[in-house]
Amino acid sequence: MSETVLVTGGAGYIGSQCCKLLAANGYRPVTYDNTSSGRPEFVRYGPMVEGDILDGCRLDAALQEYRPKTVVHFAALIEVEESTREPTLYYDVNACGTLALIEKCKEHGVEQFIFSSTAAVYGEPPSSPVTLDTPTGPINPYGWSKLMSERFLEDCASDAEIGVTIFRYFNASGSDPDAELGVNFDGASHLIPRLIFAAAEGTPFSIFGTDYDTADGTCVRDYIHVWDVANAHIAALKLQVEAGSVRRFNIGVGRGFSVKEVLDSVERITGSQIDVQQKGRRAGDVSELIAGDVEKAAVELGWKAEFTDIDEIVRHVWNWYCVENQT
Ligand code: UFG
Repeated sequence: MSETVLVTGGAGYIGSQCCKLLAANGYRPVTYDNTSSGRPEFVRYGPMVEGDILDGCRLDAALQEYRPKTVVHFAALIEVEESTREPTLYYDVNACGTLALIEKCKEHGVEQFIFSSTAAVYGEPPSSPVTLDTPTGPINPYGWSKLMSERFLEDCASDAEIGVTIFRYFNASGSDPDAELGVNFDGASHLIPRLIFAAAEGTPFSIFGTDYDTADGTCVRDYIHVWDVANAHIAALKLQVEAGSVRRFNIGVGRGFSVKEVLDSVERITGSQIDVQQKGRRAGDVSELIAGDVEKAAVELGWKAEFTDIDEIVRHVWNWYCVENQT
């Protein structure tokens, strides 16, 4: 019998990719998702329970029925800008949701908990690359809600007798290499889907800020392929952490690309010239965010990023766009 893993947010962008890899690695992923942003058609690799992270009864029923040893927690709201407009919603879903889930995991004897955190916990880091020793200091409710969740896990791990793995993702990007899953282009706020959309539809694309203290004046980010992000979870499942302990990793490649470099890549891959408009800085953006300490995951989990070529990351999103838009 394959081991069951409960995946909250399993119908989402990263969660569905994780379910696919779980199934490929012999696990049985059970998706728990309210489908507010996740897509039910992405739940192909195991059963699904439709439920909200704040619905304790539904969570009880799912944990009772499937008895997972591990819970992987992706379900969250993820838009930084929205979090500044709707902080209560973000604290409720992300922070209170995680706390409620920890409580349920304790009641149901879950042994391992893998948590999706974010580089947003570092806020505006004083130096780059960002190591695990870099002081945290989120600059928006999204980052705070994730940092609070980390703290809840740290404080509750031993009481709940759960082994906790925290992954701080840098810029999750790319799409499923087989083009079976991927990002939503509708209303996308992230750079690569927006560029692909602009390239395909001939609509204008805005660069937010060209006066940053970087080589070409645009922001630099560490783009980590969604497949690699998902694969880190498989590595964590294979090498579990002892009950009551918490381990933390930066999940990135350890190198950055500027907005202009990503734009060039999208033009190369799509063969289209993008109508670029230079706009002012977007509130809350930091100039450079590159993951440091990426060797820690290599040493402790045997994980490292495999899709490190920006053109390949972009090509996978482009392939997915073509699948989504074929008629
Ligand atoms: N950008 C543009 N134009 C756009 C969209 C984005 O110039 O239309 C720029 C942004 O200003 C930024 C870069 O592209 O400089 C990357 O922006 P994204 O929105 O793709 O990603 P962020 O770096 O803002 O956010 C990511 C994650 C968040 C996480 C954050 C950590 O998506 O979940 O990193 O700082 F919180």
